Amino acid sequence: MLFCIVVIFVTVGHFGFVLFTHNWFYSKPFPRLMGDLIQATHFLFGLIGLFWVYTLAQKIEAFVSNPDPIFLYDILLIYGLFCLFVGSIFLPINEFFRNFWCLPLNLFKQQSRCFDYTNHFLLKNKIDFLNDSFKLEVVSAVISTPLLPINSKLKILHLSDFHFGGNNNYAYFQFVFAEVEKEIYDFVFFTGDLVDNVSFLRWVVPLLKKIQAKHGKFAVLGNHDLWNSPDIVRKYLRKAGFTCLSDDWCSVNHEGVRVGIFGNEYPWFSAKLPNIASEDYDFKILLTHSPDEFFWAAKQGFNLMFCGHVHGGQIALPFFGPLLIPSKFGRRFGSGFYVNDEMIMHVSRGIAGSFPLRINCKPEVTILSLVSKNM
Ligand SMILES: [Fe+2]
Repeated sequence: MLFCIVVIFVTVGHFGFVLFTHNWFYSKPFPRLMGDLIQATHFLFGLIGLFWVYTLAQKIEAFVSNPDPIFLYDILLIYGLFCLFVGSIFLPINEFFRNFWCLPLNLFKQQSRCFDYTNHFLLKNKIDFLNDSFKLEVVSAVISTPLLPINSKLKILHLSDFHFGGNNNYAYFQFVFAEVEKEIYDFVFFTGDLVDNVSFLRWVVPLLKKIQAKHGKFAVLGNHDLWNSPDIVRKYLRKAGFTCLSDDWCSVNHEGVRVGIFGNEYPWFSAKLPNIASEDYDFKILLTHSPDEFFWAAKQGFNLMFCGHVHGGQIALPFFGPLLIPSKFGRRFGSGFYVNDEMIMHVSRGIAGSFPLRINCKPEVTILSLVSKNM
């Protein structure tokens, strides 16, 4: 019985370690080929490790019955004890604190409209109905804030991760943006990964030009844009009416409130995070690609942060959630709203991706309405 429990903890610890290092490595600005190699290595190591689990548990059992320090020179025993620690202690503690920064449900109202465009496309496999890639969730959230004057409102459309030329075709994006174009926003934010292939930049203007925003449309780039001629990507975004904020910011006056909109493209385009804490605005908004800058942004005094990059993990298990979240914080910031001090972060699942599968993880666009606290 005890041996079986050790086998389970070692297995969980092994996969936990593989996932943690995979997510951490994939959050770093490696060239695409190296990133893919790291991903393949993790996959192989995770699979091969399955054949070791029984041997690792046997070595732990032998060491416990005869704890001679000489055994500690056995690398398999060391790895087995490490997995036992990860599976039985580290992961349960980490999971306990995973939702620590989630914005409590009583602080915002949220409703969703879901659309299923799957039937408009030719299904290649019978199980394609399980694939959420051609569905869409339009999330409408309302958050009240004391930073806005009485009776004022700020309506923001957050878009992320289009990956034009990746998995989703032009007709799907037409459906999505037809839904989005129905309203007029104060701001539209795009947080990176516009294209997977530069030849699909021809989609940018016809799809994005019609979206309307009173104070402007703003964008930062992501890692996939870095791999696909970023200067040309920015040129097309400007043609579609976007202002590209690459380590730059601009100010907008909204009903007497000075709103500062900052863009930061660390770590893919910027060598380090700038110090912008001294910039004085009534309301500071940060656009960045990855949620990894959550704690830095809160320290800099931002009130709102928007990002994408992690695609909600693309595959989310029931009750347990997503596994593959390319962030240095692992599964902590998968999708949705998070809070740290006075700052609220929204992590978008994005609209598309390069990987042609989403399970329990619909593409998302989010309309965030900020209202003054007394409304
Ligand atoms: Fe992406």
